[in-house]
Amino acid sequence: MADQLIIFDTTLRDGEQSPGASMTKDEKLRIARQLERLKVDVIEAGFAASSNGDFEAVQAIAAAIKDSTVCSLSRANDRDIARAAEALKSAARARIHTFIATSPLHMEKKLRMTPEQVLEQAKQSVRFARNLCGDIEFSPEDGYRSEMDFLCRVLETVIAEGATTVNVPDTVGYAVPELYGNFIRTLRERVPNSDKAIWSVHCHNDLGMAVANSLAGVKIGGARQVECTINGLGERAGNCSLEEIVMAVRTRKDYFGLDVAIDTKHIVPASRMVSQTTGFVVQPNKAVVGANAFAHASGIHQDGVLKARDTYEIMRAEDVGWSANKIVLGKLSGRNAFKQRLQELGVQLDSEAEVNAAFAKFKELADRKSEIFDEDILALVSDETVTD
Ligand code: KIV
Ligand code: ZN
Repeated sequence: MADQLIIFDTTLRDGEQSPGASMTKDEKLRIARQLERLKVDVIEAGFAASSNGDFEAVQAIAAAIKDSTVCSLSRANDRDIARAAEALKSAARARIHTFIATSPLHMEKKLRMTPEQVLEQAKQSVRFARNLCGDIEFSPEDGYRSEMDFLCRVLETVIAEGATTVNVPDTVGYAVPELYGNFIRTLRERVPNSDKAIWSVHCHNDLGMAVANSLAGVKIGGARQVECTINGLGERAGNCSLEEIVMAVRTRKDYFGLDVAIDTKHIVPASRMVSQTTGFVVQPNKAVVGANAFAHASGIHQDGVLKARDTYEIMRAEDVGWSANKIVLGKLSGRNAFKQRLQELGVQLDSEAEVNAAFAKFKELADRKSEIFDEDILALVSDETVTD
């Protein structure tokens, strides 16, 4: 059986950090239930110490979700960690995710701490968290821009203190795939106790490479957890998109040698739910969940797909939750697609000559109208048809 890649969804935490995407407790709970239906391994439900509202949302999700691990983010200090543990008290499976920045820039300018102070705080925080919860994730924020030797020391230390997952964020989306993959691999090779923890990737999409970087972290680096969000929602340009990474690994199992536990037929409903809740529209050409992801407009493609779907489809629309693929009739459509639509509409033309005449009228109309709907077709054949 293929090794499993852990899917850690952070729509409700990093996704919510997207300007304008804030969600109520009830909205978060609804999305969390959909994530559970999807069989996401870990749901990052929020940042319990950030507000009373987020504390209550994490608490409600922890109480309701049974099959996925529920996680709360927390800064690397005792107060935040205790608050996260409190919110997660009733979870069937709980995880505390604690983080502190480790890049020279963040340590000096933002935290105003020395590397030794950061190292000590990471150590003490994981030690404190480990007494409250058996499942601890540690993230060195801005990890990808951190200095390799220092990052190795930090990660070795937190693993020794009991961190069960170590996550290496590309916080500002600066990485490129090969370099990020090699970065993870070097870390895993150099941290002496690296095999005591699961390695995770968390990539932002500032240069549009979050999915590619995450996949490189898995393939080259050997990471076994990916952090992602529905529709790629997240801070600034967003995070690695769940639907893309999941379908990449599932569709190219031959290459990655891994699989995911995700029940993919719930992907499109999850995408719609997140879009409707946040008001963030999904672009039509978005992979997997965009309205055009399984739509065919050109005559050559339509003809191919009608003969054998694999000619132009590498995944099945139905497998990700669409009811079917789409043959969009317009000026590029061919006679075969037109004939097929007539059949679907129950329209019977008596001869090939009548089909040709109707097809000519259709082409004429399509030059004036960008998409031809079923009603248009019914209208243009109405004089010469017999319908059942
Ligand atoms: O992008 C980031 O660095 C984060 C961490 C808190 C994991 O979201
Ligand atoms: Zn992030």
